[in-house]
Amino acid sequence: MKDSQEFYEGMGLKFLDPQNETEGIREYLKLEEEFVLRTFKGVDSVLDVGCGEGRYLRKLAPIVGKITGIDFAEQLVDLAKKSTANFSNVTTLLGRAEHLPTLVEETFTYALLAWNTIGNIPQELHQCIFDNLAKLVDEKIFISTFQCSPEVMDERLRYYAKTGFKVENIDGNQVILEGGLHCANAYPLSYFQELLESRGFSMKTYDFGFVGVMIEGTKTSI
Ligand SMILES: C[S@@+](CC[C@H](N)C(=O)[O-])C[C@H]1O[C@@H](n2cnc3c(N)ncnc32)[C@H](O)[C@@H]1O
Repeated sequence: MKDSQEFYEGMGLKFLDPQNETEGIREYLKLEEEFVLRTFKGVDSVLDVGCGEGRYLRKLAPIVGKITGIDFAEQLVDLAKKSTANFSNVTTLLGRAEHLPTLVEETFTYALLAWNTIGNIPQELHQCIFDNLAKLVDEKIFISTFQCSPEVMDERLRYYAKTGFKVENIDGNQVILEGGLHCANAYPLSYFQELLESRGFSMKTYDFGFVGVMIEGTKTSI
């Protein structure tokens, strides 16, 4: 699976534009946001992995101690930096999730991977990224992603049609868009359970309508 850096340096902004949302996607993202604002209130420090143009940096800065966003798309990091310039507790870094230990020195109370960021990252990098998170996160990792079902795939395809992205191929839960510039994947919950439990995290899930799910990993060992 190719990574989506080139895609997010250009046309990928369409994924961050609410005008393109279908009903199921809108419900997923609304429930995700309500959950994040409720659950992260008062948390000391947050790492937002794949922070995009800074949606959650702006929303969480007023209610958490401090928040650091990292993303590998320069145009999105620039937007995130500009739109959070008035918050003294926000840091935005250009870099890759797989290189996190070289980008940050401190640990974080919570980490967030919102809006299927995990499904945008090639699967061969997941082990390394979860190793990084296990070291950098003190309490909880939150991963918001698509559920896996034929109904969700239909909704995703309606959404991709609305954004105007060309679907090249569908392979299981993976949709390949725009000549392979972007691959959006989804994984069964058992996959995340293994990634989390093998690193000393227990797992709980919260459905966001029929489309999305939040996976909450809680550190049980140090
Ligand atoms: C679907 S967007 C979600 C953006 C943001 N989390 C939100 O909820 O609005 C996925 C983001 O992950 C970033 N991304 C994908 N792979 C990455 C990687 N390996 N390291 C850092 N960022 C990555 C993309 O640039 C993009 O901004």
